[in-house]
Amino acid sequence: MKDKKYILGIESTAHTFGVGIVKNGKILANTKESYTTNHGGIVPLEAAKYHRENKDKIYFRALKEAGIEERDINAIAFSQGPGLAPCLLEGMNFVKSLAVKLKKPVIPVNHCIAHLEIGKITGSKDPVMLYVSGANTQVIAYASGKYRIFGETLDIGVGNFIDSFARLTGIGFPGGAKIEELAKKSKNYIELPYTVKGMDIALSGVLTNLKQKIEKMKLSNSHSQIDKKLLRKKGKLLISKQKTDFPLTNFKKLSSERSERDNYTLADLAFSMQEIVFAMLTEIAERALAHTGKNELLLGGGVACNSRLQEMCKIMCKERGCKYFIPPNNLLTDNGTMIAFLGEIMFKKGIKISHTQLDKLDIKPRQRTDDVDVKWR
Ligand code: ATP
Ligand code: FE2
Repeated sequence: MKDKKYILGIESTAHTFGVGIVKNGKILANTKESYTTNHGGIVPLEAAKYHRENKDKIYFRALKEAGIEERDINAIAFSQGPGLAPCLLEGMNFVKSLAVKLKKPVIPVNHCIAHLEIGKITGSKDPVMLYVSGANTQVIAYASGKYRIFGETLDIGVGNFIDSFARLTGIGFPGGAKIEELAKKSKNYIELPYTVKGMDIALSGVLTNLKQKIEKMKLSNSHSQIDKKLLRKKGKLLISKQKTDFPLTNFKKLSSERSERDNYTLADLAFSMQEIVFAMLTEIAERALAHTGKNELLLGGGVACNSRLQEMCKIMCKERGCKYFIPPNNLLTDNGTMIAFLGEIMFKKGIKISHTQLDKLDIKPRQRTDDVDVKWR
């Protein structure tokens, strides 16, 4: 007979509804689905609705993937915060009703720390973590009973920053992977502000700068369209009809008609954005390594899927003689498995809430990494 020591993990802080199942640190299921858009960013209530409509399907798929029955679940971990309140509520309500139904305890997990703890599967033991996701950008390391934030963004998270940049170019949400592809088309560096302040970074100035550059391009593009229309009217120029809304090739083609100073394409901007912002992130990660004296760097969060960021961090680690760890992509982006993984570690130390006391349990949309007492180490 199977012993029923399976831990379920539910993730719902933002765009992803994820369900993971682990047992003794072994991953048995990692199922998830994410809310996306073709245009525009994440709408919290829409994402919550998405979770409501998809949660059962994803849950049963996870049970199937792990090859277990509902009754084999021993405890249920969930992302308590930080995150978008409507999305967190969907996850917590799902967990509460499941806990009551199965008469099993609940383990509230901090989402950011789960991103860090899942790094253990890579062999990392006491890392400095560069945690780069949508809403969060932090350099975290363990010191005196807590995961401390040694550096962070002073304004927007790097993933949200990249998604905003993507939106300006007409790409939907999330934009990170598409921007990475676009950046690969250029090697032409356009100067952008480099804003490291001590161990922190700021990104809103870089975003404003990019926005201004894109608006200039659009203006040149529409002027050029008007000029061509006039010329066509006069019968002096025979050109084929072109679309006016967001064709990259249009921008590129028109770049030669602009002054030397504005001679860049969206690919140039994507490339330059990555170079400057990832250099900023690598710098603060290196500073934290120097400051803490630790010799392991761990990457986490969706932006860590970016191969250029990985390359920069790898070079930095090599130069410092420090170890570099990165989990696979499906554990870097939001997932229920990391929640189950940390949930199991906490559960084994007796951290749990009985299914009869769930009225005390609530979400923590603004919970900070260093608010959590790390009683399981
Ligand atoms: P948080 O941990 O703050 O709740 P999140 O819910 O937004 O974050 P993640 O799934 O960790 O979640 O990260 C999503 C972000 O990662 C998005 O902003 C997305 O654009 C970005 N991203 C994904 N792939 C890439 C890539 N290849 N390059 C850059 N950014 C990427
Ligand atoms: Fe995340």
